[in-house]
Amino acid sequence: MSDPSPVAAVRLVDYHPPPADMRAEVLQGLSRRRKALSPKYFYDARGSRLFERITRLPEYYLTRTERSIMAAGMGQMADAIGPGAAVIEFGSGSSTKIRYLLDHLRSPAAYVPVDISRSHLLRAAESLAADHPGLDIVAVCADFTRPFDLPPLAAARRRLVFFPGSTIGNLTHDESVQLLRVMNHVAGANGALLIGVDMVKDTATLEAAYNDAAGVTAAFNLNLLERINHELRADFDTHAFRHRAVYNAAAGRIEMYLVSQSAQRVRLAGREIRFAAGESILTEYSHKYTQAQFAELAARGGFVIRHQWTDAQGWFSVQFLERADAYCPEA
Ligand code: SAH
Ligand code: AVI
Repeated sequence: MSDPSPVAAVRLVDYHPPPADMRAEVLQGLSRRRKALSPKYFYDARGSRLFERITRLPEYYLTRTERSIMAAGMGQMADAIGPGAAVIEFGSGSSTKIRYLLDHLRSPAAYVPVDISRSHLLRAAESLAADHPGLDIVAVCADFTRPFDLPPLAAARRRLVFFPGSTIGNLTHDESVQLLRVMNHVAGANGALLIGVDMVKDTATLEAAYNDAAGVTAAFNLNLLERINHELRADFDTHAFRHRAVYNAAAGRIEMYLVSQSAQRVRLAGREIRFAAGESILTEYSHKYTQAQFAELAARGGFVIRHQWTDAQGWFSVQFLERADAYCPEA
C-alpha cells in the first residue's frame, strides 16, 4: 500500500491500476469471439467530464430522480444511519450526492471517496474539503473490482458504504454479488449500505436515456476508443465506429456497443485487431432491477434491506441495507 500523501486539503491513497493492466485487459477483451471492453475504462478525465454532462441531459432521468428521492428522504436516511458514521463511497465521481448526506448526518467521522478516475476524484474531494473543513477526507484511487486496502480511519460508531447512481447496474449479477460481499466486509460489524438502484421500466424511456438527442452518450462511448489510442498506442478511427444502445428486456439491461462501420484493422500495442463490417464491441451493461431481483442480490451479498425510498413513478430507488448478521451473530 502506498502511504497517504497530502494533496491540498485531502489525503490521497493511490492504487491507480498501472497501464500494463489496462493493456492486458483490453487486448484480452478484443481478442474474444464477442469483443468486449470493461466500462471502468470509460473514466479517464474526459470520460468523467462526459459522464457529468450525461447526468444533466433531459433524457437521463437517473441522476435527477435519485437526487429528488434523496432530498425528500434524507431525514429518514440520516436517522437510519445514525450519528458518528464513517462514509465510504464507491464510484464517488464528482462527490455531489454525499453533500446531501453530510448536510443531514450527525457528527460524521470521515468520508472516503473511492474512484478509478484519479484527477476527477481529487478535484471532487478537494472541493468537498473546502466546504467541510472539519471533516476527515481520504481519497482512494482504486479499481473497486480488485482487492484494495482502506486507509486507517478515525474511530467511528459505524461504517456506511454509499453506492449511489446505480453503478451496481454496470456489473453482471455475479459481479454485483461479489462487490456486495466486498462492501459487506468493508462495512464491518454493525455496518450498513445506502445504494441507488435503477428499476425496470418501459423500453422507450430506457432507450432514450442511453441515446440522447445531443449525442453526449455516443461521445462518452466513443471516448473509450480515443482513450485506448492515447494510452495504448492504438490507431482506432473513431469515425469508423458508431454508438448503439438497446434494451434487452429478457436480461433486464441496457447493452451499449461500438459498431464497426466497415471491415477494418486496428493496431494496438503492437498487435493487429480485425473487425468485420457490422461487428460490435460490448462496452457496457446497465442492469435495471425489479425489487424482488434486487432483494435476491442483496441477500446473496449478505445484506438485509431495511428501508427503501422511491419516486412517484417507481423509476429509481434508494435502499438502506444492513449486514444480515447484524442481529444474529451466529448466522
Ligand atoms: N456516484 C456518482 C458517479 C457515478 S458514475 C453518481 O452517482 O453520479 C460511476 C463512477 O464510478 C465513475 O466516477 C467511475 O470513475 C467510477 N468507477 C467505475 N468503475 C469503477 C471501478 N471498477 N473502480 C472504481 N471506480 C469505478
Ligand atoms: C455510471 N452508470 C450507472 C451509468 C449508467 O447509467 O449505467 C453509466 C452510463 N452509461 C451511459 N450513460 C451513463
